[in-house]
Amino acid sequence: MSKDPEDRLTVGEVSRRTGVAISALHYYESLGLIASERTTGNQRRYPRYMLRRISLILVAKRLGISLTEVQHVFDTLPLDKLPTAHDWRRLSRLWHTQLEAKKREIEQLERELMGCIGCGCLSMKSCRLLNVDDELAELGPGPRRLDAAQAA
Ligand code: FES
Repeated sequence: MSKDPEDRLTVGEVSRRTGVAISALHYYESLGLIASERTTGNQRRYPRYMLRRISLILVAKRLGISLTEVQHVFDTLPLDKLPTAHDWRRLSRLWHTQLEAKKREIEQLERELMGCIGCGCLSMKSCRLLNVDDELAELGPGPRRLDAAQAA
């Protein structure tokens, strides 16, 4: 990490510059998404380049990428350096692929929902939203969900 004290920011400064609550910064740090150094008085100091990592977290949040997924890709980035433009291109390509997959899932659910609109049968046998791939058939005959609810 940087040795220049001018390149280090307090948690309050980072919070003001990024708009991220101090508690959230501490949480990100506990997940290993960002890192700080401690002063002799045991106060956190963040290297200025952590602002870039926090920006990536904010972009990911906006895209609906979970912190677990962010953590997964951040594990491939050095924590002690500024993420490069190359790093950002790699992350954005990866997140684009994930978003495309989510979009396909939503489109599939939308097609299944279209079959339900105006139907109202809620059939355990034929409604694909309620019984995806007829999973309940594996549990045997009869009203599987009703039996489970009554047993509970
Ligand atoms: S509610 Fe009838 S098919 Fe889904």
